[in-house]
Amino acid sequence: MAIRFEVLVRDRRSGARVGRLVTPHGTFETPMFMPVGTQATVKTLTPEELREIGAKIVLANTYHLWLRPGEDVVAEAGGLHRFMAWDGAILTDSGGFQVFSLAERRRVEEEGVYFRSHLDGSVKFMSPEVSIAVQNALGADIIMAFDECPPLEADRAYVEASAARTLRWAERSLRAHRYPERQALFGIVQGGFYPDLRVAHARALVALDFPGYAVGGLSIGEPKEVMYRILEETVPHLPEGKPRYLMGVGSPDAIFAAVERGIDLFDSVLPTRIARNGTAMTSRGRLVVRNAEYRRSWEPLDANCDCKVCRTFTRGYLRHLFHAEEMLGPRLLTYHNLYFLLSLMEGIRASIREGRFQEFKEAFLSAYYADQP
Ligand code: GUN
Ligand code: ZN
Repeated sequence: MAIRFEVLVRDRRSGARVGRLVTPHGTFETPMFMPVGTQATVKTLTPEELREIGAKIVLANTYHLWLRPGEDVVAEAGGLHRFMAWDGAILTDSGGFQVFSLAERRRVEEEGVYFRSHLDGSVKFMSPEVSIAVQNALGADIIMAFDECPPLEADRAYVEASAARTLRWAERSLRAHRYPERQALFGIVQGGFYPDLRVAHARALVALDFPGYAVGGLSIGEPKEVMYRILEETVPHLPEGKPRYLMGVGSPDAIFAAVERGIDLFDSVLPTRIARNGTAMTSRGRLVVRNAEYRRSWEPLDANCDCKVCRTFTRGYLRHLFHAEEMLGPRLLTYHNLYFLLSLMEGIRASIREGRFQEFKEAFLSAYYADQP
Protein backbone atom coordinates (compact mmCIF):
# COMPACT_ATOMS: atom_id res chain seq x y z
CA MET A 1 0.00 0.00 0.00
CA ALA A 2 1.20 3.48 -0.91
CA ILE A 3 -0.23 5.16 2.17
CA ARG A 4 -1.15 4.20 5.70
CA PHE A 5 -3.79 6.04 7.68
CA GLU A 6 -4.69 5.73 11.31
CA VAL A 7 -7.23 7.64 13.41
CA LEU A 8 -5.39 8.71 16.58
CA VAL A 9 -8.04 10.67 18.51
CA ARG A 10 -11.82 11.00 18.13
CA ASP A 11 -13.74 14.02 19.41
CA ARG A 12 -16.42 12.91 21.87
CA ARG A 13 -18.95 15.54 20.83
CA SER A 14 -18.64 15.53 17.02
CA GLY A 15 -17.27 13.58 14.07
CA ALA A 16 -13.92 15.41 14.29
CA ARG A 17 -10.81 13.28 14.50
CA VAL A 18 -7.03 13.55 14.45
CA GLY A 19 -5.36 11.08 12.10
CA ARG A 20 -1.89 10.23 10.92
CA LEU A 21 -1.24 9.84 7.21
CA VAL A 22 1.98 8.11 6.15
CA THR A 23 2.98 8.72 2.52
CA PRO A 24 6.12 7.83 0.52
CA HIS A 25 7.10 11.51 0.94
CA GLY A 26 6.50 12.12 4.60
CA THR A 27 4.09 11.63 7.46
CA PHE A 28 1.68 14.23 8.79
CA GLU A 29 -1.35 14.56 10.98
CA THR A 30 -4.85 15.42 9.86
CA PRO A 31 -7.04 17.50 9.61
CA MET A 32 -4.65 19.06 7.10
CA PHE A 33 -4.90 21.75 4.44
CA MET A 34 -3.14 21.23 1.11
CA PRO A 35 -1.89 24.39 -0.65
CA VAL A 36 -2.74 24.40 -4.36
CA GLY A 37 0.15 24.27 -6.82
CA THR A 38 -1.81 23.87 -10.05
CA GLN A 39 1.15 24.18 -12.42
CA ALA A 40 3.73 22.43 -10.19
CA THR A 41 4.24 25.65 -8.22
CA VAL A 42 2.37 27.13 -5.30
CA LYS A 43 2.20 30.54 -6.95
CA THR A 44 4.98 32.92 -5.76
CA LEU A 45 6.54 30.58 -3.15
CA THR A 46 9.64 28.37 -3.22
CA PRO A 47 9.58 24.82 -1.85
CA GLU A 48 11.85 26.03 0.96
CA GLU A 49 9.26 28.64 1.95
CA LEU A 50 6.49 26.02 1.80
CA ARG A 51 8.49 23.86 4.19
CA GLU A 52 9.08 26.87 6.45
CA ILE A 53 5.35 27.55 6.85
CA GLY A 54 4.63 23.91 7.66
CA ALA A 55 3.17 22.61 4.40
CA LYS A 56 3.39 18.81 4.25
CA ILE A 57 1.42 18.08 1.10
CA VAL A 58 0.62 20.18 -1.96
CA LEU A 59 -1.87 19.67 -4.77
CA ALA A 60 -1.03 19.78 -8.47
CA ASN A 61 -3.29 19.47 -11.50
CA THR A 62 -3.16 16.68 -14.04
CA TYR A 63 -5.05 18.75 -16.62
CA HIS A 64 -2.54 21.62 -16.61
CA LEU A 65 0.62 19.50 -16.48
CA TRP A 66 -0.66 17.18 -19.20
CA LEU A 67 -1.23 20.16 -21.54
CA ARG A 68 1.98 21.89 -20.45
CA PRO A 69 4.82 20.86 -20.21
CA GLY A 70 3.47 17.32 -20.81
CA GLU A 71 3.75 14.41 -18.39
CA ASP A 72 6.62 12.94 -20.45
CA VAL A 73 8.70 16.04 -19.70
CA VAL A 74 7.94 15.77 -15.97
CA ALA A 75 8.75 12.03 -16.03
CA GLU A 76 12.06 12.74 -17.75
CA ALA A 77 12.91 15.21 -14.96
CA GLY A 78 12.48 12.30 -12.54
CA GLY A 79 8.81 12.81 -11.66
CA LEU A 80 6.85 15.68 -10.17
CA HIS A 81 8.71 15.79 -6.83
CA ARG A 82 12.08 16.28 -8.53
CA PHE A 83 10.69 18.48 -11.30
CA MET A 84 9.39 21.03 -8.77
CA ALA A 85 12.07 20.26 -6.14
CA TRP A 86 9.47 19.49 -3.46
CA ASP A 87 10.27 16.41 -1.40
CA GLY A 88 7.07 16.54 0.67
CA ALA A 89 3.91 14.73 -0.35
CA ILE A 90 1.94 15.61 -3.50
CA LEU A 91 -1.65 14.95 -4.54
CA THR A 92 -2.72 15.33 -8.16
CA ASP A 93 -6.33 16.04 -9.05
CA SER A 94 -7.52 13.96 -11.97
CA GLY A 95 -8.46 16.70 -14.41
CA GLY A 96 -12.13 15.84 -14.07
CA PHE A 97 -12.94 19.18 -12.47
CA GLN A 98 -10.66 21.28 -14.71
CA VAL A 99 -11.98 19.79 -17.94
CA PHE A 100 -15.43 20.86 -16.82
CA SER A 101 -14.46 24.30 -15.54
CA LEU A 102 -11.72 25.44 -17.98
CA ALA A 103 -12.04 23.57 -21.25
CA GLU A 104 -14.12 24.95 -24.11
CA ARG A 105 -16.76 23.17 -26.20
CA ARG A 106 -16.62 19.90 -24.33
CA ARG A 107 -18.60 16.77 -25.16
CA VAL A 108 -19.06 14.12 -22.50
CA GLU A 109 -19.35 10.54 -23.71
CA GLU A 110 -19.20 7.20 -21.95
CA GLU A 111 -15.63 6.74 -23.11
CA GLY A 112 -14.43 10.13 -21.85
CA VAL A 113 -14.55 13.86 -22.57
CA TYR A 114 -13.66 15.63 -25.81
CA PHE A 115 -12.82 19.29 -25.39
CA ARG A 116 -10.70 22.14 -26.68
CA SER A 117 -7.56 23.11 -24.79
CA HIS A 118 -7.82 26.48 -23.01
CA LEU A 119 -4.21 27.12 -24.13
CA ASP A 120 -4.27 26.68 -27.91
CA GLY A 121 -7.78 25.55 -28.80
CA SER A 122 -6.62 22.13 -30.01
CA VAL A 123 -9.00 19.18 -29.60
CA LYS A 124 -8.15 16.89 -26.67
CA PHE A 125 -9.58 13.73 -25.20
CA MET A 126 -9.49 12.92 -21.49
CA SER A 127 -10.70 9.62 -20.06
CA PRO A 128 -10.08 7.59 -16.90
CA GLU A 129 -7.29 5.74 -18.72
CA VAL A 130 -5.65 8.96 -19.96
CA SER A 131 -5.95 10.67 -16.55
CA ILE A 132 -4.45 7.72 -14.67
CA ALA A 133 -1.65 7.22 -17.22
CA VAL A 134 -0.74 10.91 -16.82
CA GLN A 135 -0.97 10.70 -13.01
CA ASN A 136 1.16 7.53 -13.03
CA ALA A 137 3.80 9.39 -15.06
CA LEU A 138 3.69 12.46 -12.77
CA GLY A 139 4.19 10.22 -9.74
CA ALA A 140 2.24 12.00 -6.97
CA ASP A 141 1.73 10.15 -3.67
CA ILE A 142 -2.05 10.45 -3.90
CA ILE A 143 -3.90 10.45 -7.22
CA MET A 144 -7.59 10.93 -7.96
CA ALA A 145 -10.14 8.99 -9.98
CA PHE A 146 -11.45 10.70 -13.12
CA ASP A 147 -14.88 12.12 -12.36
CA GLU A 148 -17.50 14.57 -13.53
CA CYS A 149 -18.52 17.44 -11.27
CA PRO A 150 -22.00 18.33 -12.54
CA PRO A 151 -22.88 22.04 -12.64
CA LEU A 152 -24.94 23.59 -9.82
CA GLU A 153 -28.01 23.89 -12.06
CA ALA A 154 -27.99 20.24 -13.24
CA ASP A 155 -31.35 18.50 -12.73
CA ARG A 156 -31.81 15.17 -10.97
CA ALA A 157 -31.88 13.11 -14.17
CA TYR A 158 -28.58 14.60 -15.31
CA VAL A 159 -26.90 14.17 -11.90
CA GLU A 160 -28.10 10.58 -11.62
CA ALA A 161 -26.76 9.62 -15.05
CA SER A 162 -23.53 11.54 -14.39
CA ALA A 163 -22.94 9.84 -11.02
CA ALA A 164 -23.52 6.42 -12.60
CA ARG A 165 -20.97 7.26 -15.29
CA THR A 166 -18.51 8.62 -12.69
CA LEU A 167 -18.87 5.28 -10.88
CA ARG A 168 -17.98 3.38 -14.06
CA TRP A 169 -15.09 5.81 -14.57
CA ALA A 170 -13.95 5.06 -11.00
CA GLU A 171 -13.80 1.32 -11.81
CA ARG A 172 -11.88 2.09 -15.00
CA SER A 173 -9.53 4.39 -13.04
CA LEU A 174 -8.79 1.52 -10.62
CA ARG A 175 -8.14 -0.93 -13.46
CA ALA A 176 -5.86 1.53 -15.29
CA HIS A 177 -3.73 2.31 -12.20
CA ARG A 178 -0.30 0.72 -12.61
CA TYR A 179 1.41 1.59 -9.29
CA PRO A 180 -1.00 0.97 -6.39
CA GLU A 181 1.98 0.20 -4.15
CA ARG A 182 3.49 3.66 -4.79
CA GLN A 183 0.49 5.91 -5.40
CA ALA A 184 -2.79 5.80 -3.48
CA LEU A 185 -5.81 6.23 -5.78
CA PHE A 186 -8.75 7.96 -4.09
CA GLY A 187 -12.37 7.65 -5.26
CA ILE A 188 -14.55 10.78 -5.53
CA VAL A 189 -18.14 10.81 -4.31
CA GLN A 190 -20.52 12.77 -6.55
CA GLY A 191 -24.33 12.85 -6.61
CA GLY A 192 -25.00 16.58 -6.59
CA PHE A 193 -27.36 17.88 -3.95
CA TYR A 194 -29.52 14.75 -3.77
CA PRO A 195 -28.81 12.90 -0.50
CA ASP A 196 -30.03 9.54 -1.81
CA LEU A 197 -27.78 9.79 -4.88
CA ARG A 198 -24.84 10.75 -2.63
CA VAL A 199 -25.43 7.78 -0.31
CA ALA A 200 -25.77 5.31 -3.18
CA HIS A 201 -22.64 6.68 -4.84
CA ALA A 202 -20.63 6.57 -1.60
CA ARG A 203 -21.68 2.98 -0.94
CA ALA A 204 -20.85 1.83 -4.46
CA LEU A 205 -17.41 3.50 -4.29
CA VAL A 206 -16.72 1.99 -0.88
CA ALA A 207 -17.42 -1.46 -2.33
CA LEU A 208 -14.56 -0.80 -4.77
CA ASP A 209 -12.21 -0.48 -1.76
CA PHE A 210 -10.22 2.67 -2.54
CA PRO A 211 -7.49 3.58 0.00
CA GLY A 212 -9.17 6.98 0.53
CA TYR A 213 -12.26 8.94 -0.49
CA ALA A 214 -12.96 12.48 -1.58
CA VAL A 215 -16.27 14.31 -1.53
CA GLY A 216 -16.48 16.26 -4.79
CA GLY A 217 -19.12 18.41 -6.43
CA LEU A 218 -19.45 20.79 -3.46
CA SER A 219 -18.50 24.43 -2.89
CA ILE A 220 -19.64 25.27 -6.43
CA GLY A 221 -21.97 28.11 -5.44
CA GLU A 222 -24.57 26.32 -3.27
CA PRO A 223 -25.46 27.77 0.15
CA LYS A 224 -23.08 26.59 2.89
CA GLU A 225 -25.93 24.92 4.77
CA VAL A 226 -26.61 22.76 1.72
CA MET A 227 -22.99 21.63 1.63
CA TYR A 228 -23.03 20.84 5.36
CA ARG A 229 -26.21 18.81 4.95
CA ILE A 230 -24.68 16.78 2.10
CA LEU A 231 -21.58 16.12 4.23
CA GLU A 232 -23.77 14.94 7.10
CA GLU A 233 -25.54 12.52 4.79
CA THR A 234 -22.43 11.32 2.96
CA VAL A 235 -19.52 11.01 5.40
CA PRO A 236 -21.16 8.34 7.63
CA HIS A 237 -21.12 6.00 4.62
CA LEU A 238 -17.35 6.34 4.17
CA PRO A 239 -15.00 3.95 6.01
CA GLU A 240 -13.98 5.16 9.46
CA GLY A 241 -10.36 4.05 8.99
CA LYS A 242 -9.63 5.73 5.66
CA PRO A 243 -8.83 9.39 4.88
CA ARG A 244 -11.69 11.66 3.76
CA TYR A 245 -10.95 14.64 1.57
CA LEU A 246 -13.33 17.55 0.88
CA MET A 247 -12.31 19.03 -2.46
CA GLY A 248 -12.11 22.78 -3.02
CA VAL A 249 -12.88 24.07 0.48
CA GLY A 250 -10.63 26.54 2.32
CA SER A 251 -12.71 29.10 4.24
CA PRO A 252 -12.38 28.79 8.03
CA ASP A 253 -16.12 28.40 8.70
CA ALA A 254 -16.49 25.60 6.14
CA ILE A 255 -13.31 23.90 7.37
CA PHE A 256 -14.65 23.81 10.94
CA ALA A 257 -18.04 22.55 9.76
CA ALA A 258 -16.45 19.81 7.65
CA VAL A 259 -13.95 18.73 10.34
CA GLU A 260 -16.89 18.46 12.71
CA ARG A 261 -18.53 16.14 10.17
CA GLY A 262 -15.49 13.88 9.86
CA ILE A 263 -13.37 15.38 7.04
CA ASP A 264 -9.55 15.00 7.20
CA LEU A 265 -8.13 16.78 4.13
CA PHE A 266 -8.83 20.08 2.38
CA ASP A 267 -7.54 22.06 -0.57
CA SER A 268 -8.53 25.40 -2.01
CA VAL A 269 -7.10 28.24 -4.07
CA LEU A 270 -8.77 30.67 -1.62
CA PRO A 271 -5.77 31.64 0.58
CA THR A 272 -3.35 31.95 -2.34
CA ARG A 273 -5.81 33.61 -4.74
CA ILE A 274 -7.02 36.29 -2.35
CA ALA A 275 -3.39 36.91 -1.30
CA ARG A 276 -2.51 37.86 -4.88
CA ASN A 277 -5.29 40.42 -4.99
CA GLY A 278 -4.25 41.94 -1.68
CA THR A 279 -6.49 40.25 0.89
CA ALA A 280 -5.00 38.77 4.06
CA MET A 281 -6.68 36.18 6.28
CA THR A 282 -6.20 37.25 9.91
CA SER A 283 -7.49 36.16 13.31
CA ARG A 284 -9.89 39.14 13.06
CA GLY A 285 -11.15 38.20 9.60
CA ARG A 286 -10.20 39.29 6.10
CA LEU A 287 -8.06 42.40 5.78
CA VAL A 288 -7.92 44.26 2.45
CA VAL A 289 -4.40 45.61 2.62
CA ARG A 290 -4.93 48.13 -0.21
CA ASN A 291 -7.39 50.10 1.88
CA ALA A 292 -6.57 53.73 2.64
CA GLU A 293 -6.90 53.11 6.39
CA TYR A 294 -3.60 51.18 6.33
CA ARG A 295 -1.55 53.91 4.64
CA ARG A 296 0.07 54.88 7.94
CA SER A 297 -0.46 51.64 9.85
CA TRP A 298 2.83 50.39 11.27
CA GLU A 299 1.33 47.29 12.81
CA PRO A 300 1.75 43.76 11.47
CA LEU A 301 -1.00 42.21 9.32
CA ASP A 302 -2.08 40.11 12.29
CA ALA A 303 -0.86 40.81 15.83
CA ASN A 304 -1.62 37.16 16.69
CA CYS A 305 0.49 35.73 13.84
CA ASP A 306 4.15 34.86 14.34
CA CYS A 307 4.97 34.25 10.67
CA LYS A 308 8.05 35.87 9.12
CA VAL A 309 5.91 38.46 7.30
CA CYS A 310 4.11 39.55 10.46
CA ARG A 311 7.39 39.66 12.40
CA THR A 312 9.06 41.81 9.71
CA PHE A 313 6.67 44.01 7.72
CA THR A 314 3.93 46.53 8.45
CA ARG A 315 0.49 46.94 6.92
CA GLY A 316 1.60 50.33 5.60
CA TYR A 317 4.50 48.79 3.71
CA LEU A 318 2.41 45.91 2.35
CA ARG A 319 -0.23 48.41 1.19
CA HIS A 320 2.49 50.35 -0.61
CA LEU A 321 3.72 47.18 -2.37
CA PHE A 322 0.24 46.48 -3.75
CA HIS A 323 -0.32 50.04 -4.90
CA ALA A 324 3.09 50.10 -6.57
CA GLU A 325 2.29 46.69 -8.12
CA GLU A 326 5.47 45.25 -6.72
CA MET A 327 5.83 41.45 -6.88
CA LEU A 328 6.87 41.19 -3.25
CA GLY A 329 3.32 42.09 -2.18
CA PRO A 330 1.60 38.94 -3.55
CA ARG A 331 4.53 36.85 -2.34
CA LEU A 332 4.35 38.09 1.25
CA LEU A 333 0.57 37.82 1.47
CA THR A 334 0.65 34.29 0.04
CA TYR A 335 3.25 33.34 2.65
CA HIS A 336 1.18 34.79 5.48
CA ASN A 337 -2.19 33.39 4.32
CA LEU A 338 -0.87 29.85 4.00
CA TYR A 339 0.91 30.15 7.33
CA PHE A 340 -2.35 31.36 8.84
CA LEU A 341 -4.41 28.49 7.44
CA LEU A 342 -1.82 25.81 8.26
CA SER A 343 -1.63 27.21 11.82
CA LEU A 344 -5.42 27.07 12.02
CA MET A 345 -5.26 23.37 11.11
CA GLU A 346 -2.63 22.83 13.79
CA GLY A 347 -4.89 24.58 16.28
CA ILE A 348 -7.79 22.36 15.22
CA ARG A 349 -5.70 19.20 15.70
CA ALA A 350 -4.49 20.32 19.14
CA SER A 351 -8.04 21.20 20.22
CA ILE A 352 -9.39 17.78 19.16
CA ARG A 353 -6.55 16.03 21.01
CA GLU A 354 -7.27 18.06 24.13
CA GLY A 355 -11.05 17.62 24.02
CA ARG A 356 -11.82 21.32 23.43
CA PHE A 357 -12.62 21.38 19.71
CA GLN A 358 -16.07 22.98 20.17
CA GLU A 359 -14.67 25.76 22.36
CA PHE A 360 -11.79 26.40 19.97
CA LYS A 361 -14.19 26.60 17.01
CA GLU A 362 -16.49 29.08 18.74
CA ALA A 363 -13.62 31.30 19.91
CA PHE A 364 -11.93 31.28 16.50
CA LEU A 365 -15.08 31.94 14.45
CA SER A 366 -16.43 34.67 16.69
CA ALA A 367 -13.17 36.61 16.30
CA TYR A 368 -12.83 35.82 12.56
CA TYR A 369 -16.36 36.87 11.65
CA ALA A 370 -16.77 39.62 14.27
CA ASP A 371 -16.50 42.57 11.85
CA GLN A 372 -17.89 40.85 8.72
CA PRO A 373 -21.23 41.52 7.09
N1 GUN B 1 -12.10 20.00 -7.06
C1 GUN B 1 -13.18 20.58 -6.48
N2 GUN B 1 -14.29 19.86 -6.69
C2 GUN B 1 -13.91 18.78 -7.43
C3 GUN B 1 -14.62 17.66 -7.98
O1 GUN B 1 -15.84 17.51 -7.82
N3 GUN B 1 -13.88 16.76 -8.70
C4 GUN B 1 -12.53 16.91 -8.87
N4 GUN B 1 -11.87 15.98 -9.58
N5 GUN B 1 -11.85 17.94 -8.37
C5 GUN B 1 -12.54 18.86 -7.66
ZN1 ZN C 1 1.55 36.34 9.44
